Amino acid sequence: MDCRADFPILATRIGKRPLVYLDNAATTQKPTAVLEAEMRYYEQVNSNIHRGAHYLSRLATEEHEQARATVAGFLNAASDKEIVFTSGCTAAINLVAQTLALSGMVHPGDEILVSTDAHHSNIVPWQMLCQRTGALLRPVPLTPELTFDMAAYESLLSPKTRIVAFPYISNALGVVNPAASIIAAARRNRPDTLVLVDGAQSTGHQLIDVQALDADFYTFSGHKVYGPTGTGVLWGRQAMLELLPPWMGGGEMIREVSFDRTTYNDLPFKYEAGTPNICGNIVLAEALKYVQKVGIPAIEAHEQKLTAMLCDGLSAMPGVRILGPKLGRGALVSIVVPTVHHYDLGTLLDQMGVAVRTGHHCCQPLMLALGITGTTRYSFSLCNTEEDVRRALDATERALAMLQ
Ligand code: ALA
Repeated sequence: MDCRADFPILATRIGKRPLVYLDNAATTQKPTAVLEAEMRYYEQVNSNIHRGAHYLSRLATEEHEQARATVAGFLNAASDKEIVFTSGCTAAINLVAQTLALSGMVHPGDEILVSTDAHHSNIVPWQMLCQRTGALLRPVPLTPELTFDMAAYESLLSPKTRIVAFPYISNALGVVNPAASIIAAARRNRPDTLVLVDGAQSTGHQLIDVQALDADFYTFSGHKVYGPTGTGVLWGRQAMLELLPPWMGGGEMIREVSFDRTTYNDLPFKYEAGTPNICGNIVLAEALKYVQKVGIPAIEAHEQKLTAMLCDGLSAMPGVRILGPKLGRGALVSIVVPTVHHYDLGTLLDQMGVAVRTGHHCCQPLMLALGITGTTRYSFSLCNTEEDVRRALDATERALAMLQ
């Protein structure tokens, strides 16, 4: 697979050599189809939705709701009503945590289990929920191999467990968590446990079928799936979204407003107060169509090949420790080199035209558990090539020779 030419930004040269972009877990670059969709929207469609009687308003409304249907199809949601557009994965998780805080469904002493490899956006909103309700946050540890510790999780599950939250794929380690087993165990323990899967690093990298997954909530960010920043999706089981109260108040989310009383709109509009990111949501759908055109099975196979190549090369370098198992990982690899600061390695890689991410990756509790301050992370998307891996390995070898 060679889709590099679809991404104009990859023509960037760092010094004399083309950029090798391996920071896709932070944000993906955008293909021409997505860039053109944004231009087309503002040239031919731009208008506010759901309110106007005029041609452009009808067109924008139709395209916006078609975009929702595209997202629903992409996730295999049972209904478009289950797709709430948000400003990103963080906003989607906050929407769930904050409406739960308002719902009266979480009580003092209830427990929220969160895996140790969760991103801050899947920890802090639950801490805030705990502060408001008296619930307790319980981290689920990792095994010594840095995988989800199923035995420890099973022993933490109890009648007090109200919520379970975890990333499908850890953004800091690349480990794929056993989502089906985690969800099944939660349901066996207590059928009304609410399960949220953070799909920021899985969406666009593997097939997602929210009906088969059987969680209650699945969240992702548009900009990590070739779409614009400021877009994201909350998928929620319809019955749950019906049960939860509204969150932000304003236009669009209401049915009738008087100074005495307000009634609320149907799903999903109940959670979409104000003018949404109309262009962003329509363009996000174009990004998902691009992914579907390339094909998720082909993307997954391609990224797995690049990841294995990178792991093989890195593990042959003295002093390099790859975090997590070699197999069963997503499209990213995090390393530590005990004698080298990750920031120094990242800086030298950048000078050689290889863009990686260094630091704690918004996973400070994980870093604390590992006794490290950060890692150097290489992350792939469909636009990467085997030449990118060779360049990354060569640059890492040279950088480490300078630093060690
Ligand atoms: N959450 C993003 C990352 O992992 C920013 O880099």
